[in-house]
Amino acid sequence: MRIGLFFGSDTGRTTAAAEQIKETLSNKLTIDMFDVVDFDKNELEKYDHLIIGLSTWFDGELQSDWDTNFNEFCEVDFTNKVVALYGLGDQIVYCDYFIDGVGILAEQILKKGGTLIGKWPTEGYLHTDSKAELEDGVFCGLALDEDTQEEMTAERIVSWCEQIYNEFIALEINLHGAYSQ
Ligand SMILES: Cc1cc2nc3c(=O)[nH]c(=O)nc-3n(C[C@H](O)[C@H](O)[C@H](O)COP(=O)(O)O)c2cc1C
Repeated sequence: MRIGLFFGSDTGRTTAAAEQIKETLSNKLTIDMFDVVDFDKNELEKYDHLIIGLSTWFDGELQSDWDTNFNEFCEVDFTNKVVALYGLGDQIVYCDYFIDGVGILAEQILKKGGTLIGKWPTEGYLHTDSKAELEDGVFCGLALDEDTQEEMTAERIVSWCEQIYNEFIALEINLHGAYSQ
């Protein structure tokens, strides 16, 4: 299975997470990485299986490259696409906007017919509000916090990668009746 991993990062943390995700999954899946500083929706549309990563800035706004390219992103039809989202944020200083960007992209993906996988429990986080919490108690993607819970990032990534791998495969089997690497 080939996955397109599209990420945007202002200070490099979401990029580092993308590299860790790729490394964790690379023995099972082929991961093609794209920095959305050069976003091209035609490139994204080639993939039925996607991982999308971003940080949140300035009280709940999309990371700058996602922000610049958001209108083009909104043109993508996500029908038959399966997407796992992850986000970087700061749950203490920006507790009312924690990883809001994940929620903003999630809403757009769902609106355009996409399927989200990789939901993640909010237990263990200290935020007060988040647009990524589409359902109570669950983020609609992986939440990473390099500002206040840096020591948990590696473990969270490994566990989430295992989860999304299983979810990608289960959906593939559902759709096509079988999966071969
Ligand atoms: C000025 C500023 C505004 C921020 N705003 C938010 C925010 O609204 N929500 C959030 O969860 N994190 C916020 N953050 C935290 C960043 O998202 C976090 O540091 C992240 O790891 C940066 O990732 P990047 O280097 O990939 O861009 C903010 C950080 C700064 C410095």
